[in-house]
Amino acid sequence: MDVRVVDHPLAKARLSTMRDARTNSAAFRAALQELTLMLMYEATRDAEVAVEPIHTPVARTDGYRLAHPPLLVPVLRAGLGMADQAHRLIPEAQMGFVGLARDETTLQPTPYLESLPADLSGRPVFVLDPMLATGGSMVHTIRILTERGASDVTAICTLAAPEGVRRLEESGLPVRVVTASIDDRLNESGYIVPGLGDAGDREYGAV
Ligand code: PRP
Ligand code: URA
Repeated sequence: MDVRVVDHPLAKARLSTMRDARTNSAAFRAALQELTLMLMYEATRDAEVAVEPIHTPVARTDGYRLAHPPLLVPVLRAGLGMADQAHRLIPEAQMGFVGLARDETTLQPTPYLESLPADLSGRPVFVLDPMLATGGSMVHTIRILTERGASDVTAICTLAAPEGVRRLEESGLPVRVVTASIDDRLNESGYIVPGLGDAGDREYGAV
């Protein structure tokens, strides 16, 4: 499985803002948006482009656009904080939604929303979720996508735990990961260490 760690100094700086327990919700959301831009930039680096002629005020030249705009799928709640920024970067992308809440005792994802196109064959899909912890939520999401025919899935996560990366790898699902960091481990409560705490709560407040 292809795992790309974006360790650009600016990505590290935004991630540090997100990690810092003193960062308030507004600043956390702003840093997440900026980091999303960087992760998306790297995730699309090798995307196929279509070439068509355009005219500048001076001359005719080649113009470029994404040949296959992806479907963006934020995983609610926390992935919502990445959605607008990703969409701003690829305005022609369509967006689907998956809602999951991790049971904090069993660490299993409980699904509550699935709003996706029926047929995803031949379409690249970018799943947006800041946290890849045990990997349960991501595996669940990618299964839903592959059941609809997706075979080219990119997981965009600000942070990943080695356990989550391993679980994705062992799942055999067609996914690659783009992240700003693979942290040390999960703690006994299933939180990423050093991590940044509960991403959804930090973006939107505790529920
Ligand atoms: C968080 C996070 C991921 C999931 C990761 O969401 O945004 O979706 O946990 O954990 P996992 O890899 O162990 O499955 P959570 O379920 O807490 O919901 P929220 O986004 O509504 O806060
Ligand atoms: N979900 C989060 O929001 N944070 C973690 O550290 C693990 C799962």
